[in-house]
Amino acid sequence: MEKILDIITAKMQAAFEAAGYDASFGRVNVSNRPDLCEYQCNGALAAAKQYKCAPIQIANAVVAQLDASDYDMVEAVMPGFINLKLSGSFLEKYLEEMRTAEDFGVAKIGAGKTIVVDYGGANVAKPLHIGHLRPAIIGEAMKRLYKFLGYNTIGDVHLGDWGLQMGLIIAELQERQPDLPYFDPDFTGDYPAESPFTLSELEEIYPTASGKKKDPEFAEKAHTATYELQQGRRGYRAIWDHIMRISLADLHRVYDALDVHFEKWLGESDADPYIPAMVEDLKNRGLAILSEGAWVVPVAEETDKKEVPPMILVKSDGSAIYATTDLATLVQRTQDWNPDKVLYVTDKRQNLHFEQVFRAARKSGIVKETCELEHIGFGTMNGKDGKPFKTRDGGVLRLEQLVKDMTDFVRSKVVENKIVDESEVEATTQKIALAALKYGDLSNQPTKDYNFDLERFAAFEGNTGPYILYTIVRIKSIIGKYGEYKHLPIQAPANAYAKDLMLSITKFGPAMESALKSSAPNLICAYIYDLAGCVNKFYHETRILGEENEELKAGYIALIGLAKDILETCINLLGFSAPDKM
Ligand code: ARG
Repeated sequence: MEKILDIITAKMQAAFEAAGYDASFGRVNVSNRPDLCEYQCNGALAAAKQYKCAPIQIANAVVAQLDASDYDMVEAVMPGFINLKLSGSFLEKYLEEMRTAEDFGVAKIGAGKTIVVDYGGANVAKPLHIGHLRPAIIGEAMKRLYKFLGYNTIGDVHLGDWGLQMGLIIAELQERQPDLPYFDPDFTGDYPAESPFTLSELEEIYPTASGKKKDPEFAEKAHTATYELQQGRRGYRAIWDHIMRISLADLHRVYDALDVHFEKWLGESDADPYIPAMVEDLKNRGLAILSEGAWVVPVAEETDKKEVPPMILVKSDGSAIYATTDLATLVQRTQDWNPDKVLYVTDKRQNLHFEQVFRAARKSGIVKETCELEHIGFGTMNGKDGKPFKTRDGGVLRLEQLVKDMTDFVRSKVVENKIVDESEVEATTQKIALAALKYGDLSNQPTKDYNFDLERFAAFEGNTGPYILYTIVRIKSIIGKYGEYKHLPIQAPANAYAKDLMLSITKFGPAMESALKSSAPNLICAYIYDLAGCVNKFYHETRILGEENEELKAGYIALIGLAKDILETCINLLGFSAPDKM
């Protein structure tokens, strides 16, 4: 559907033209004085300079050309503004079209395009920690938003499954159980199907091994094991398979609980086969050069304000690094999916890394010329006091623990306030906790740091996830008392609150589009908060179920029904859903 601003701009431009002025002056904006009007056009002020006459004269002439039935109010005011209030019939028609269109008539700007969203970034064999919350939540929301706006979306978790952590585990396991067949270079039989360690053992083995990195002898062994694994040593590959299977099952479980789902579970190891040919090619084409024994791709540009060092492709010891893998992953993605865009969601400390990789990918034509590469570098989640988030003993908090803390807190509120029957406590708690956690995060601008505040995020009032859920649940309950609503047509606004609500509803499509274009899920939150506020105002000021005029009542229900459907669509984009009761 065409956006309201575009519709009324087109009409305004026609009016400028009909009045004898250039159409380009007819741009309409959302009013910055909502007390005076809903929309405004300031074009007469600019036109006055060109036509050398008083702006108010132009504004008056233009107003005379507008179709009055579109507006409750249209006036030229000094020195030459044109102020507009839309008419009830205009809004009625527009919302009815939204109501009956697919996805409320949102413009499918991504039709025919493919985007890969690289988010999550879990590392195999290491438990997810709180640093993995934001990439999961922001990435999932962005992916859903892209999908909603018509893109073909592929979410890829891009596992860290090929690095030193694997060598550390292998080396540690060898010290503990040297007689296992995996370590016997002459072994040619089948390795045991069962893993030599359980998940909880693995969770102990890795940190223990990691703690021994300072021991040069052990570190040497771990590096060698990593190297041999990457070279394809059979026994190490078999250990790697065990680690992957155990660890992935656990990662699936934690991501599922967060309602975060990946289409692809590829990892650094999947990029590995692409590295040799890519490196050869970059060398042959002179794009990679030797520098102090390492092969690097210079990526500095003349316009750089800060120094952008070359991307290291192959270290002087012959090994590939993080950037090499990311570049090779782009080779794989281009070959398999030919994306129009690749979006990465990681900590902003990786800004330079991605800048280097993107430049190298462009320079070398690894991605097609029209492929857009974007990195959302998000800020840090700190504790309530604004200090880095730490466990009581100074360690890193596990993601699962954070989710559990939030869930426990919400559960105690649900139980205490007797919100639902006992049998529904758990399901309702899960929904509210997820909303609190995700909305608390997503309502912040992604690039900014924010403080994690359990109580504030879980509050039922204020700009929080639970407040949004509560609003939805309240509408659901009114509608539940009324009955079927999906067939009811929208009516012209019956009062000022209905009109505000209708105006808010018209902004749905534009809000989703700007959230996508600015990579800002917080704009979805801001939109929802506004819409929820408008519904609640309308509800407080209007007798809905008590309305005696059935016709009017049906119109009210149609309106709040549409608002509810849009709110539910929005929270689904953010990655959570509403319970039936709250
Ligand atoms: N595993 C990485 C880490 O823990 C994040 C991966 C992000 N994605 C990427 N394509 N580099 O830091």
